[in-house]
Amino acid sequence: MALTIEDMAIFCKKKGFIFPNSEIYGGIAGFFDYGPLGVELKNNIKQSWWKTFVQDRDDVVGIDGTTITHPKVWKASGHVDCFGDIMLECTKCKERFRGDHLIQDVLKIQADGLSKEDIDKLVIENKIHCTKCKSPLGPAHEFNLMFTTQVGPVVTEESKTYLRPETAQLIFADFKAVMDTSRQKLPFGIAQSGRAYRNEISPRDFLFRSREFEQMEIEFFIHPKETKCALLSKEDLDFEFQILTQDNQEKNQSHSKIKAKDMIKNKVAGEWHVYWLRQVYQWFIDMGIKKENLRLREHLKDELAHYSSACFDIEYQFPSGWKEIHGNANRGQFDLQQHEKVSKKSMAIFDEATQEKVIPRVIEPSQGTDRAFLAVMFDAYEDDKERGNIVLKLSPRLSPIKVAVLPLVNKLEDEAKRIYNLLKKEFTCIYDRSGSVGRRYARADEIGIPYCITVDFEGKDDKTVTIRYRDNTKQVRVKIDDLIDTINNMIKGKYL
Ligand code: ATP
Ligand code: GLY
Repeated sequence: MALTIEDMAIFCKKKGFIFPNSEIYGGIAGFFDYGPLGVELKNNIKQSWWKTFVQDRDDVVGIDGTTITHPKVWKASGHVDCFGDIMLECTKCKERFRGDHLIQDVLKIQADGLSKEDIDKLVIENKIHCTKCKSPLGPAHEFNLMFTTQVGPVVTEESKTYLRPETAQLIFADFKAVMDTSRQKLPFGIAQSGRAYRNEISPRDFLFRSREFEQMEIEFFIHPKETKCALLSKEDLDFEFQILTQDNQEKNQSHSKIKAKDMIKNKVAGEWHVYWLRQVYQWFIDMGIKKENLRLREHLKDELAHYSSACFDIEYQFPSGWKEIHGNANRGQFDLQQHEKVSKKSMAIFDEATQEKVIPRVIEPSQGTDRAFLAVMFDAYEDDKERGNIVLKLSPRLSPIKVAVLPLVNKLEDEAKRIYNLLKKEFTCIYDRSGSVGRRYARADEIGIPYCITVDFEGKDDKTVTIRYRDNTKQVRVKIDDLIDTINNMIKGKYL
């Protein structure tokens, strides 16, 4: 039986990865807390993203903006006027549905980007009723997803503002400040990781659609006339993506395969867009995600967000089907031009290479942190029937706890504690003395601990211990003096 998203939610709660928020009061739909293991795994994913896309690159710098900002930012960006979903409401029980999702669920068709009128028409033609009480639905209307709040003690229309629905706009608003201080020149990027809030009409599928979540976004600024990307390597160009093109979707076909160079040649996407899709794909692969579980989905023309001229989602194959975990949009010059118009401050910069003043165009790789977390968890989860337990095959670099120290018998506790105290300074580590060794291995497997160090009598005299690797249960005997280096090498990819 395929693992459902509900099974994953139960597993995450049982093992301390994720808890429903404020459960002691009955919970609140669309909000989740990361537990002790979840916060470690999420932080490791965030660190891996920051290291890959900011610290390891010379052409991307980071910022950390606020979650509340001047309301004009959201007016300029178009979010006040256009950032909504179509809502349907039951005329009797008042249950609310996101229009495109209801159409998709009932009619089994691709419904992204349908207008209010399209949805009304489909509801009437197909006699779609409330799925809860079967009563008729009212007319479709637009619902803005931004949470509003007040700044300051006096509640007026002027004090109204919003919780940010994306991290991206803070980057655009700070664009000039970063440009003036960071000595970057085109092309270059600004990255930000942090919380975002959307008052989703019907949050569902666990972390996949919540009302408070995290994003890791890059706005990559390019000269508006620059179409060539010098960063694309031969390996990048030969890389093969799985892709669901517009054509595939219109003809109801499944995805096909395409090399990066053919995406460019066939004008599926521009060089810079292909470059960024490739980089993000590699990041997922480096986190241990299987390549065959990833694909690109080209947005349909009707589906494009108000700011975007081309967009690809990266989808992950969850047991329940392919779903977006990353959005990668060509935002053109839209945002900087809008901020220039509304703030009346020039957003143009002087490009030394061409000796021109230009407003750059932008490619935006937008990553949902929680959806990356879910993809990592699903990809790692294996119900090992032979062992009789779950094995969470997380990449050791991401594992919340790297090492478990297990004394074989109580008599070896002093030695095992000494080793634990030694390792604890270097790795996230637990000490486990309760139950049989087999039971302790199983417990470690279930929370993805890659290395179990067993302290036994044999090693007491020659100062050795055994290391057991989670994925294949192989064991090696290692000198205690070499333990830290050996584990460090294993985490770097030299597994047992
Ligand atoms: P969807 O079509 O599923 O509503 P979206 O297209 O609105 O998603 P984007 O606006 O492209 O999503 O947001 C960029 C990324 O932010 C998404 O790929 C996803 O990883 C993340 N994200 C967006 N909304 C949510 C949410 N409600 N909960 C968790 N992550 C989200
Ligand atoms: N910044 C893109 C998005 O959140 O939709």
